[in-house]
Amino acid sequence: MSEEIIVVEGNGTLTGEVRVSGAKNSALKLLAATLLGQGPSVVRNVPLISDIEVMSEVLRTLGAAVTREGHAVTVDTADVSSFETPYELVSKMRASISVLGPLIGRFGRARVAMPGGCQIGARKIDMHLAGLEHLGVEFTVDHGYLEANAPDGLHGAEVMLTFPSVGATENLLMAAVTAEGTTIIENAAREPEIVDLCNMLNEMGCKVTGGGTPSITIEGVDLSELHPCDHVTVGDRIEAGTFLVGGALTGGPLKVTGIDPRFLRMALMKLREMGCDVETGEDWIGIARTGELRPVEIQTLPHPGFPTDLQAQFMLLAALADGNSVITENVFENRFMFAAELCRMGANITIEGHHAFIQGVKSLQGAPVSSTDLRAGGALVLAGVIAEGQTTVHEIRHIDRGYEDYAGKLQSLGADVKRVKA
Ligand code: EPZ
Repeated sequence: MSEEIIVVEGNGTLTGEVRVSGAKNSALKLLAATLLGQGPSVVRNVPLISDIEVMSEVLRTLGAAVTREGHAVTVDTADVSSFETPYELVSKMRASISVLGPLIGRFGRARVAMPGGCQIGARKIDMHLAGLEHLGVEFTVDHGYLEANAPDGLHGAEVMLTFPSVGATENLLMAAVTAEGTTIIENAAREPEIVDLCNMLNEMGCKVTGGGTPSITIEGVDLSELHPCDHVTVGDRIEAGTFLVGGALTGGPLKVTGIDPRFLRMALMKLREMGCDVETGEDWIGIARTGELRPVEIQTLPHPGFPTDLQAQFMLLAALADGNSVITENVFENRFMFAAELCRMGANITIEGHHAFIQGVKSLQGAPVSSTDLRAGGALVLAGVIAEGQTTVHEIRHIDRGYEDYAGKLQSLGADVKRVKA
């Protein structure tokens, strides 16, 4: 299929109500976790995005039967007999590494292609491996594949993560659930998607406590005690944050539904600091702005710190604020490429190492731009909504990886956005 692009006419309008999809960064791991229960599990509120298709293909390669009806995905793992994932799938999506933990938890072994880096950084897995070695796993690298074996079985251990890595926490969780004895993960990631995974593992018969805190305890159980489950994925806080930034940019008023506002406390605090009126309910967040956007200081950090996945979106906000802002990216080593694209639209941003210095400008001009990563792509389309004239966003396959029907949702909010063949 020839490449598609997104064409945006700057009409400055995003208003109304939009429901966010299920969280990409939870659903991918929930699908991987179905490997621990032998039989058909159902994962609901799964977003219709390409990364989910890749994960479904990985599971099929392992022998699972994967079907979907709307936003519900059924994974029957009764016949899973392979523990090897092929390079061509892992190279498409590094999150495939999320099957490492459950394969070890189910088979005591795994053979997965080493994930590559990506645009935003090296994306190493040294913490995944070091943690799993504490549980008794031995690793060797064989022609780009990671061979994992636990010759003496998996045993509980106290594992201290040097950094609260989301992926490392998840892989450790999904292996430790069948280890002999107790595992404690110290300095664990605290993202809402970790809590969602812990909840689903417990629904499958695992014994996990402390999800969402820096210390997670897992009492190992026998694999035979684990069973399939039916689980609803939490709403996508990054998609919600992206639309809220759209409301902040245009003034809204805009309401996102299907999201727990507690997932976005830091981002909402920063939106209020920048002059937005933010209201929240049990599963919705409303935003409006009448005055000028105020400048802001942001440090991206592991949850509950400011989410790195909203960094590009807030850089766009800061680019139009009445003053100078600073954004420091502490999580990834190369996540400022978006700035160069925004400068082509008239923003005034200087990058020095991990710091972005943003001098607010009055307006942006539409231009042809390229999506450098998933979240930058989402932000570039928003930039086009408030820019003067037309913006064409290229490389939108990045956007399709993580946002379900992004153009359609923006259109429903009044934006003049359409996907066309390049
Ligand atoms: C998850 O990536 C998300 N992806 C990312 O979202 C998100 O930005 C990130 O968590 C942080 O919140 C998925 O869930 C699929 P990490 P992950 O392990 O698990 C380094 C998006 O836009 N590190 O917390 O890879 C790593 O290189 C994506 O949806 C090691 O050095 O994040 C990175 O610099 C982008 N060694 C930092 O830690 C390790 O063993 C954070 O990584 C593991 C990580």
